[in-house]
Amino acid sequence: MSDTHKHKLPQLFDLTDRVAVVTGGAGLLGAEFCHTLAEACARIVIADLDEASAAHVADDINRHGGSAISLRVDVTDRQSVAAMVEATMKAYDRLDILVNSAALDPKFDPQHGGHTNVFEDYPLDLWNRALSVNLTGAFLCCQAAGRVMLAQGGGVMINMSSIYGITAPDQRLYQKPGEEPAYKPAYYPVTKTGILGLTTYLAAYYAGKNIRVNAISPGGVFNGHDEAFVKAYSAKTVMGRMAYKDDMNGALIFLASDASAYVTGANIIVDGGWSVW
Ligand SMILES: NC(=O)c1ccc[n+]([C@@H]2O[C@H](COP(=O)([O-])OP(=O)(O)OC[C@H]3O[C@@H](n4cnc5c(N)ncnc54)[C@H](O)[C@@H]3O)[C@@H](O)[C@H]2O)c1
Repeated sequence: MSDTHKHKLPQLFDLTDRVAVVTGGAGLLGAEFCHTLAEACARIVIADLDEASAAHVADDINRHGGSAISLRVDVTDRQSVAAMVEATMKAYDRLDILVNSAALDPKFDPQHGGHTNVFEDYPLDLWNRALSVNLTGAFLCCQAAGRVMLAQGGGVMINMSSIYGITAPDQRLYQKPGEEPAYKPAYYPVTKTGILGLTTYLAAYYAGKNIRVNAISPGGVFNGHDEAFVKAYSAKTVMGRMAYKDDMNGALIFLASDASAYVTGANIIVDGGWSVW
């Protein structure tokens, strides 16, 4: 064992020659992650159910001198996940970084199931669907990527959890005066807590294999929420605001790169202090 520094600071974050697969790479944070990894010189596979939006992100990266491909994946489908990894190997011959960002999150979209998420009446089919995307999806992607990483001699997995993986939703945030009570559904904290279990399980499972597995737990990211919500949410954070969509990029690049060479099984909470109060 030697205690000399192996890298200069910029090299610590450099991802040249590495290949990253981002599931849900067309999403609000997912697209940010793709651009950030590309900026660090990784080659990117943008994998999403929404093929057109994934292609748009890839075009943008390629136009700016990066290297990216996009493909349609359904993370709940083992064959589709296998095809994603095959396409990655065909295009780039490696898979160094897996970011599990695909997820269902109702974000209080009134179109989501057309109901208010009352726990006692929550439909079983929506519960099962959410578990299969948010939890089983990450499980299948880690399985498929893990096989390649083992054969390659290493890799990095980053799983997206949430503040709701470590705290319960304060349902008062989701109530609007004069409207029927609405709720953050149970599946969201349940799956985000499960993601943390999968993360520590795999970090320990891959002991001695040079595969690091970590999680990021973002706070709520502003995405056109109404003023009352923004005010009530912001008051619950130490920083006094919702997250910007690029607030997670530092944690992502830290976990994806050699800067975190001695970090595995960790959960980086990026919540503006939401969870300390
Ligand atoms: N945005 C936030 O406020 C926030 C806060 C905490 C945690 N998170 C977590 O961060 C991650 C990224 O969030 P986001 O804001 O980019 O979410 P998003 O809803 O904007 O994007 C999710 C993406 O996943 C894709 N997807 C859905 N089902 C899929 C499937 N079966 N197969 C493949 N792709 C599928 C969607 O097409 C979409 O592009 C998620 O895991 C989310 O739970 C987000």
